[in-house]
Amino acid sequence: MSQDSNLVSAESINLAVSSALSEIDKANDLDELKLIKLNHAGDRSPIALANREIGALQGEAKSEAGKRIGQARSVVKEALDNRMVELQNNREDSILVAEKVDVTQVLANAKSSSLVVGARHPLTTIAEHIADVFIAMGYEIAEGPEAEAEWFNFDSLNISEDHPSRSSSDTFYVESLDSGVVMRTQTSPVQMRAMLERKPPIYVIAPGKVFRTDELDATHTPVFHQVEGLAVDKNLTMADLKGTLDHLAKTMFGEEIETRFRPSYFPFTEPSAELDLKCFVCKGVNKKKNFDCKTCRNEGWIEWGGCGMVNPNVLETAGIDSTRYSGFAFGMGLERTLMFRYGITDMHDLVEADIRFTSNFGLGI
Ligand code: DAH
Repeated sequence: MSQDSNLVSAESINLAVSSALSEIDKANDLDELKLIKLNHAGDRSPIALANREIGALQGEAKSEAGKRIGQARSVVKEALDNRMVELQNNREDSILVAEKVDVTQVLANAKSSSLVVGARHPLTTIAEHIADVFIAMGYEIAEGPEAEAEWFNFDSLNISEDHPSRSSSDTFYVESLDSGVVMRTQTSPVQMRAMLERKPPIYVIAPGKVFRTDELDATHTPVFHQVEGLAVDKNLTMADLKGTLDHLAKTMFGEEIETRFRPSYFPFTEPSAELDLKCFVCKGVNKKKNFDCKTCRNEGWIEWGGCGMVNPNVLETAGIDSTRYSGFAFGMGLERTLMFRYGITDMHDLVEADIRFTSNFGLGI
């Protein structure tokens, strides 16, 4: 190859560099830049081809051409690197813009073509509503963990070691089976935690999630919600319990609602009762009118929750002198309460939380 090979001449190299730089500058995206890199810095680019000619040169011409081509390569490489960073940043910026989600955005409701905002789940609103009712009566909100010590969930509440509710066919055990930790099956362990943390008088309300090994169907779900109430004070009686629950029932279902206590058994209360509501559908007159009521199965009453006077054993476990203090407690399911309140017939609607369902309950109740 002759000394003045076209490819290695300063003119050719300058031209190769300037055309590379101008194309690099014009690259619109990383794909275009990749192609430009191939054409201007790849094996068949003018600079690479010039590089191959160096070997045929002699003396000073060889070293000058080597220097020229080396510089040209580094200028082009630097320009490519810089442009790549720029285009990468641009791409990230545009992804951020394209994928932007405005969580406060107002959603267009296709059904009504009016505008709706995202809705809170009615379980959240009803839990807050119940908490507010009790806060107004001087209660505090109490909390406990969802993965709970077996001792709090069962033993401390006077539930015997062989009680069927402890079996792993009813209760989710946190591995291993002897870990001593369960997913709480009720909010009642919060009673014990509240008593250990406070001194009487104690007035607490504890809404929360509970877990049982039930299959999801129209009336059951393995994860559901309860609200627990506990009062410990001097001279509390069943009449205080009834008055408190009647007040709650009225705030939930209206002034007209009728309640009754039905004798029952819970290890942590003595005496214990089920709290029933007069059936909303047949109002208890089904028998007279010969109407077959599916809601109460012609009982005239529907079960809402459990309650009773705190068993003295439980008070003593919490270090409270049961000769000086008495207590009452109650617990009811929130899904059940919502279903009664709004005539919801399928638990799936509550579990799925589709906005088309939840938005019917608005932002408050
Ligand atoms: N924990 C009970 C349940 O899950 C409900 C209950 C009954 C709670 C009586 C109470 C109570 O506080 O006193 O079925």
